[in-house]
Amino acid sequence: MRRGAGRAWLAAAALAALCAACAQEEPPLDEAAVLARSDAVAGHFQSALQGQLKTALAAGGPMLAVTVCHDAAPLIAAQELERSGAEVSRVAERNRSPAGRLTDEVRAHYTGLASAPLVNGKPASRIWRSGMGDGAIINVLRAIPMREKPCTVCHGTNVASDLAARIRELYPNDKATGFKPGDMRGAMLIRWPAAAFAE
Ligand code: HEC
Repeated sequence: MRRGAGRAWLAAAALAALCAACAQEEPPLDEAAVLARSDAVAGHFQSALQGQLKTALAAGGPMLAVTVCHDAAPLIAAQELERSGAEVSRVAERNRSPAGRLTDEVRAHYTGLASAPLVNGKPASRIWRSGMGDGAIINVLRAIPMREKPCTVCHGTNVASDLAARIRELYPNDKATGFKPGDMRGAMLIRWPAAAFAE
């Protein structure tokens, strides 16, 4: 009897120690799963946006396409949230949209990403966890490389003067010109509730 009670006490103490440890340490994260699901979200978002951009450029040239870019990105992000459960936005050190500026939290990860934006020719990503408990978030920051077409029309080193004037009108604090193909133009920020990856 006494031995049994002693064992039960030991088991309870071990369990308490284990729980104290798990309350402090984050559960392990399956980074490969996070990256796979984030790549899918980034792919959906970018192909939807670039599809609309291409249509607008063909239909009305860059003067029409700037406004499409302005209106379409938040709508596509809302659809993506509905479909995947992830919050998607675009951020940049040299941002055009005021909504795209870097927060202090993102800046450190952005700087690291900018030092190596491509891995084997593909956009690199950074993953980190923020928040606690039910509010915990898995953040993924994925590089957006600058391309020749169609990006240089609106973000390049030689933006046509009427278009540059329109961009200044819409975005008085625009910092998003002067990029060359291969530069990191910005990054996609994909934020998942941590519960999306709980076992
Ligand atoms: C027709 C002009 C146009 C073209 C072409 C264009 N963009 Fe943009 N881009 C914009 C506008 C306008 C915004 C601001 C959108 C907003 O208000 O949310 C923007 C915003 C962005 C942002 C979000 C961060 C920020 O600076 O606000 C990124 C990243 C970006 N563009 C990358 C690209 C890439 C990469 C390409 C080529 C595939 C591209 N853009 C082509 C006009 C353009």
